[in-house]
Amino acid sequence: MREYVVAILGATGAVGQRLISELEQSSIPVKKLKLLASKRSAGKKLKFKNQKITVEEAQPDSFNGVDLVLSSAGGAVSKKLLPEAVKHGAVCVDNTSAYRMEDNVPLVVPGVNDKELANHHGIIANPNCSTIQMVAALYPIYQRWGIKQIIVSTYQAVSGAGKAAWDEMLNQAQARLNHQDLKAEILPTAADKRHYPMAFNLLPQIDVFEDDGYTHEEWKMIHETKKILLNDQNAGEIKVTATCVRVPIEIGHGETVYFVVNDSSATTAEIQEEIAKTSGLVLQDDPSKQVYPQPLLAAGKRETFVGRIRQDQENDGAFQMWVVADNLLRGAASNTVEIAECLVRDDLVHQAN
Ligand code: A2P
Repeated sequence: MREYVVAILGATGAVGQRLISELEQSSIPVKKLKLLASKRSAGKKLKFKNQKITVEEAQPDSFNGVDLVLSSAGGAVSKKLLPEAVKHGAVCVDNTSAYRMEDNVPLVVPGVNDKELANHHGIIANPNCSTIQMVAALYPIYQRWGIKQIIVSTYQAVSGAGKAAWDEMLNQAQARLNHQDLKAEILPTAADKRHYPMAFNLLPQIDVFEDDGYTHEEWKMIHETKKILLNDQNAGEIKVTATCVRVPIEIGHGETVYFVVNDSSATTAEIQEEIAKTSGLVLQDDPSKQVYPQPLLAAGKRETFVGRIRQDQENDGAFQMWVVADNLLRGAASNTVEIAECLVRDDLVHQAN
């Protein structure tokens, strides 16, 4: 059996640490694991399968002899280092948005479109966390009835913005309890000019604004959904619009998803049935017992939780649902490692011939 030399780029980050534990629990035969991060973390030791591995500073030649790279160190690092990894013969699964919209880069949610992996040229993109859980929940509905419109509003946990942002929110919460001023230097996004407190607040800005008034996160949800479901980021067959909001939650993104199906004979009970029988989805939908998905219950789990499914009483074929998943696992590390498992399963850990 082939064994793989694997590198995790961004191993010390919020997603990186989960990539280590997801890889540990995966079916991938790991011959050797390299942990890469910035210079700041070089020399730190992290555990993998009861073994202590020293973190190294990521450099272009770090990928010498590496078969598979799982990366989550920010878009700029991916842009700089993944082409080097590919030059060294590695296949990379990237968590950032750096390559998602490139034509020869598959954007994959396993179970939905993993057949696209066969077309990779060395880099595979993991979709945005909010896109993954929404597409996972919609896919069985799309397959049975077709979907013509999606209107989504997100309630996104702060861990999605990285460890530093997460720490900043906890410090703000502590400062508030101590009756001190709240310091804000990172959120809504480090790349922008103004920063606002996250604790006890809501920020309707995730990533930077585009000229049309949408944020880049909203843009990602719209175009990634089309690329995953229709294999064309600008396809018109499904109309998608999004509002993305950061909420003061540690882990677990929530989404209200309004969708219109092509075949309006669909019923709420049938949609519940499809969700319940789809692997990776968990139906939590019993208003009479107050059963519905919640971030605190989803944190630490790989599944996508779906509830509050109900029909729009004023529009034929239109429904609403509430979708929750652990953004660091389902929306990032688990999806990345599942992509890597598919690559291993289909013997695709090599570059295009
Ligand atoms: P480090 O911990 O050394 O800063 P998060 O998304 O939680 O903020 O994590 C980002 C990850 O990306 C961390 O592992 C971080 O390492 C890593 N990282 C940041 N800058 C670089 C860089 N220039 N080269 C390699 N890894 C980087």
